[in-house]
Amino acid sequence: MYWRRVRSFVIIGQSAVASDDFLLHDFAGTSGRLDVLARCVRAALLFSHGVRRDACVYLVLLGGPRAPRVVRFQGAVAKFVRPDERNLSVQLKKVLAYGDDAEITGFVEVRAGISVAKGSIDAVLADLAGATPFVLEEGAPDVREVPAAELANAAFFMGDHHGWDAACRKRLAEIGARPIGVGPVSLHTEDVVTLVSNELDRREPPPA
Ligand SMILES: C[S@@+](CC[C@H](N)C(=O)[O-])C[C@H]1O[C@@H](n2cnc3c(N)ncnc32)[C@H](O)[C@@H]1O
Repeated sequence: MYWRRVRSFVIIGQSAVASDDFLLHDFAGTSGRLDVLARCVRAALLFSHGVRRDACVYLVLLGGPRAPRVVRFQGAVAKFVRPDERNLSVQLKKVLAYGDDAEITGFVEVRAGISVAKGSIDAVLADLAGATPFVLEEGAPDVREVPAAELANAAFFMGDHHGWDAACRKRLAEIGARPIGVGPVSLHTEDVVTLVSNELDRREPPPA
């Protein structure tokens, strides 16, 4: 039975800049650690020599003067996304340079499969309509205990290197997001993305 429609990953970047005001040659040092989120894009969207067409990634950017904004990568239609951080930082710079926020309604596609929206976690929730929300937390019940059918069309919310802030936690509790964990160690977010992807792959290999 083909039970999985799409896998969505939502990364909350508490300090990641929502504008193109960062230096490509010092991405980590000048972007409020947007590099942490860029690595999550690679982990969620790309496998060896391919793009996961059933994956979608939302980066919630809460840092800098243009915040809050969300960048969405859709594996189904993304082009020119490569695994190296330089490529990802260039893509993000171009998308975040996009026009006047007054022009933005919903998600606006700026590059193939890469879109930007105004707003924070609620902009993501509106776009995800119908997905089952899970929140990744250290110490939560193991994802391995979750039956495959419950992971169909799932959205996985994750913190960045700062973890979770109270407002996000509250909003995710309001929508009934179920806490799940990936083991006993507090990991980097990109590694959590990889482990969740692997759990899904083991239940159902991705479509070709
Ligand atoms: C580097 S960790 C956050 C560490 C941060 N210093 C804290 O105390 O919250 C980044 C994110 O990855 C996820 N995460 C890390 N380890 C995890 C685990 N073992 N199980 C589930 N989620 C995990 C959580 O969403 C976390 O917010």
